[in-house]
Amino acid sequence: MLVSAKDMLVKAKAGKYAVGQFNINNLEWTKAALLTAQECNSPIILGVSEGAGKYMTGFKTVAAMVKAMIEELNITVPVALHLDHGTYEGCYKCIEAGFSSIMFDGSHYPIEENVAKTKELVEVCANKGMSLEAEVGSIGGEEDGVIGKGECADPAECKQIADLGVTMLAAGIGNIHGKYPENWEGLSFETLDAIQKLTGDMPLVLHGGTGIPEDMIKKAISLGVAKINVNTECQLSFAAATRKYIEEGKDLSGKGFDPRKLLNPGFEAIKATIKEKMELFGSVGKA
Ligand code: 13P
Repeated sequence: MLVSAKDMLVKAKAGKYAVGQFNINNLEWTKAALLTAQECNSPIILGVSEGAGKYMTGFKTVAAMVKAMIEELNITVPVALHLDHGTYEGCYKCIEAGFSSIMFDGSHYPIEENVAKTKELVEVCANKGMSLEAEVGSIGGEEDGVIGKGECADPAECKQIADLGVTMLAAGIGNIHGKYPENWEGLSFETLDAIQKLTGDMPLVLHGGTGIPEDMIKKAISLGVAKINVNTECQLSFAAATRKYIEEGKDLSGKGFDPRKLLNPGFEAIKATIKEKMELFGSVGKA
């Protein structure tokens, strides 16, 4: 069932668990994510970066594929199709393409401009029954060409954006896209605590879910994080399983070169990673 992310996140925040956003790249990724969510009876958010949308030939293709797959696979758990780190223009493209949720990443604008653009999108999304994620304080590292410095968000600015009526708020708390460096100082729970105190019931979003230790994930959830984004970890699992298949020469025996066989170990590896994350985030059985 394709839905806005609002209800699933309100429930998650109240129930002290988090819904996973898993970024998709192609048909195998999408199928793996949807089937795992159904098997785990968990709500799920499918994240699509602008780069991944372009790779899949455009947001309309993505929306059509996800909607058809939900129907053909009889997926009954709540699924949100969400633009990840959207530009202002990208947001409008996804609204038109039939996404159920968008993220407007205005974190690189001065706060006044972030507020103005987010405010406009709050209205548009409300009219369409879509959920909207906003961002304050950039997430470090690089994702699909979006580069962030990784500074911690200012709690007062978070409140200003939350008060506009967004559905969920991503706030930089020392998190980074991709693998964490050896000398990473960890999440700033002080910042998260201050943000949650000022934003109350607002579901908070933790980007850069790859490689955050389990105890930090649990603590972040206890401090109001209700959505956690995972991208790189599925890519690493897919790549490792595919590499193993090829290095074992399995593509060279029988019909092992058949793409359905060649891509299967990677597909199964994505499923296993998503299941593991859903268990850690506590969303299993919460559909
Ligand atoms: P990772 O690639 O670090 O898991 O981050 C994903 C993310 O935050 C998507 O917006």
